[in-house]
Amino acid sequence: MSNRKATAVSCANIALIKYWGNRDERLRLPANASLSMNLAGLETRTTVAFDEGLAEDEVKIGGEAQTDRAKERVMTHLGHIRARARITWKARVDSRNNFPAGAGIASSASAFAALTLAGAKAAGLSLSEQELSALARLGSGSAARSIPAGFVEWQTGETHAESFAFSVAPPDHWALVDVVAVVSKAHKAVGSTGGHAIAGTSPLQAARVASAPERLRRCREAVLSRNFYELAEVVEADSNIMHAVMMTSTPPLYYWEPLTLVVMKFVREWRAEGLRVCFTIDAGPNVHCLCPVETAPEVERRLRDLGVMETLTATPGGAARVMEE
Ligand code: PMV
Repeated sequence: MSNRKATAVSCANIALIKYWGNRDERLRLPANASLSMNLAGLETRTTVAFDEGLAEDEVKIGGEAQTDRAKERVMTHLGHIRARARITWKARVDSRNNFPAGAGIASSASAFAALTLAGAKAAGLSLSEQELSALARLGSGSAARSIPAGFVEWQTGETHAESFAFSVAPPDHWALVDVVAVVSKAHKAVGSTGGHAIAGTSPLQAARVASAPERLRRCREAVLSRNFYELAEVVEADSNIMHAVMMTSTPPLYYWEPLTLVVMKFVREWRAEGLRVCFTIDAGPNVHCLCPVETAPEVERRLRDLGVMETLTATPGGAARVMEE
């Protein structure tokens, strides 16, 4: 093996059209295609070092050795990389996020994208962006979207190889900003893997999935033509229908806190008054407020006035990248 150790950095992403539920749980083939924006500066940096002398994989996240479910998930993912590279060596994995844990930024997307890129490089694999994206998907669905740059679409695909994400526009295409209103830092009770598994128990999921391609088409068009008001309507509608599925699944999942709903209502009011801002919410209580870059300071100020203690702001981010040692 030529190269045994590699480091990669990858951004988190925010879904404008959501992924919720799988057609194939094991392969994480999604029920519907989704579209997201990478979040510049909100990153995971991961080093993978394959070592012939190691008896088992060692996984550190944020400097702490992992022993439980987090370690298992990383080991399973390393297993996919080893199978692909036809190697058996165990690895040391060291992964760090530069954004606060529990701030409502999905770390699994950036974490599995960085792990995939660093792992593939360290294992000596030379994979295309599509292959890396499909491989990242096996770790966490949304990680497929953190491999390419900027505004990214993840097509459903019929097979493992076909279910990958690709860039629809580069980061500098549109100076949009995600102002994350941090409403709560409490750890969520049901993670997204558990949520995807029960999405089909909601009678609304079939309607959501059937109508998702039309929302995706509208959203892609709005992004490509930089039409903020069209983007706002479709992004909010898509977030609402996903949360309607969550709330009506068995068991029901309520991710919102009272302040979540306050922010949602005010964002719509501000937009009606002419401020360009809209919301979208993932599997947690924090509200991602999307707005043009020049509107961000005003959005941040108004969120603080509503009682939001902390905001995080990100512009469109680039592709996952390997760092030179
Ligand atoms: O990739 P996962 O399994 O963490 O699922 C992500 C689910 C949402 O964040 C709620 C939606 C999305 O498309 O990112």
